[in-house]
Amino acid sequence: MLVRSPQKLAQSNLSPPVKFISQNSSSLTLLNTVQLLLLIHFLSSNITQKDGKEPPGPTPLPVFGNFLQLDLKKIHVTLLELSKQFGSIFTIYLGTKKVVVLVGYNTVKEALVDYAEVFGERDSKPIIDELFRGQGIVWANGDTWKEMRRFSMTNLKDFGMGKKEFEDKIIEECHYLMEAFKQFKGEFDINQSLSNATANVICSFIYGNRFDYNDPEFTSLVNRTCRNNKLLSTPSVQLYNMFPWIGKWFSYPNEFKKAFAANREQQMKLVSHLKETLNPKMCRGFVDAFLIHQDNLEKSGITTSHFHNENLLITIMNLFVGGTETSSRTITWGLFLMAKYPKIQEKVREELSRVMGDHQVQFKDRTELPFTNAVIHEAQRLTAIAALGLPHRTSQDITFRGHFIKKDESEWEKPYTFYPEHFLDKDGKFIQRDAFMVFSAGRRVCPGASLARTEVFIFFTTLLQRFRITFPPGVSEDELLLSPSDSLILNPSNVKLCAVPL
Ligand code: HEM
Repeated sequence: MLVRSPQKLAQSNLSPPVKFISQNSSSLTLLNTVQLLLLIHFLSSNITQKDGKEPPGPTPLPVFGNFLQLDLKKIHVTLLELSKQFGSIFTIYLGTKKVVVLVGYNTVKEALVDYAEVFGERDSKPIIDELFRGQGIVWANGDTWKEMRRFSMTNLKDFGMGKKEFEDKIIEECHYLMEAFKQFKGEFDINQSLSNATANVICSFIYGNRFDYNDPEFTSLVNRTCRNNKLLSTPSVQLYNMFPWIGKWFSYPNEFKKAFAANREQQMKLVSHLKETLNPKMCRGFVDAFLIHQDNLEKSGITTSHFHNENLLITIMNLFVGGTETSSRTITWGLFLMAKYPKIQEKVREELSRVMGDHQVQFKDRTELPFTNAVIHEAQRLTAIAALGLPHRTSQDITFRGHFIKKDESEWEKPYTFYPEHFLDKDGKFIQRDAFMVFSAGRRVCPGASLARTEVFIFFTTLLQRFRITFPPGVSEDELLLSPSDSLILNPSNVKLCAVPL
């Protein structure tokens, strides 16, 4: 197979974030690369330039399209390389599917925000369609999406997202996590522990309770979720999505489906238990709120609503997946960078100790902790975990921008470097940057962003107050690359770290 080497990006060891978007009948992918200041969307064939011509792109082969030119293990890297040649709007073919890629913060922001309606649809893939069947939030469109998203967001707010009551749950979880960290002597897979903790935060919202880290039912749910994020971006699953007729011979698509089925079964059991013990006067979490709403609709004689059991199941699976590895990998990257840049780690700890002493950090304290806040933002900017993001599609034909746009790498002073000063002014005060778009923008903007911001801030600061993060002894500098492993949600290749109690 002809695979282009990722050249400069590979050398820079950075992980560009990518999101996928698509148009009408076919698909548009949005790739958001923070370090290059690029956001790329895959748009489908219905995008044209002002002169009616299609955007340029590499010549496709019959049937295969451009897939032989793409490094399927790091498709976002190949796309960035292609954008250097073809500019910010170009066309590629994934098999026979025509896709337009948009690159650049301004281009993507314009698409997602100024043309929010047109670019706000979700594109799907064969393997996703088979399993999710257009239900829930993430892979849904139209009224189902609208209703499920609205209901989830209302409940996230009602349960205190972005408020003190939910923050207390996050702080409580962080204390369980620290106890787990203390059990480890030497190196351990920090992302696994963090995923258990972030999964528990979202479980507190969904079910109204957390789970023990030693509960095998819980850990298998978390592990399968993480595994499926990885499987979704494997070359064989991508091939399956391009050519479903040949792809079924590969083992990964089958493993993905089996893990999905097992998770679905487990979530069903949890929902059944909540149904049996439901008390409408005491709403424990999202599932209870949904069941109560469902019941009220039935009592009012409404039988055709979107509040049916399938939507409940897929929505909670979406929230569980959406809320688990995104946050845990963000924190993992933050800690990984602290191990790689110990002087910056010490500077964070010095600020924490000067401002907070031994007190528990709260989200409101971030205004007093500008350096720490800048480090967290910079870690998110540089590593951009959602590099493969989620595919969008446009709802109608569109002439977009009307011209070939040269990519713009100038948003960040040092796009390839871990440089917390990107978020600090000359007086050391924290500054918000428009180009920081890790939660996306527009109609599909991450509904868990407020929860995630609190979670990442509390976990990161509390852990650094109590532990020194280092690489395992004997690991050479060469192994400490920032190149991500291949996964839908990018992770450092080497996630084994040591947490030394202070
Ligand atoms: C640091 C953590 C997180 C990051 C970086 C992140 C990032 C993102 C991104 C980039 C998208 C795609 C938006 C688009 O399609 O344009 C997204 C969607 C989504 N996220 Fe998050 N997310 C995080 C945490 C969470 C949490 C905690 C939840 C759960 C409450 C959540 C639930 C979702 C859902 C349900 C969607 C689909 C929205 C839709 O299709 O309308 N995310 N997230």
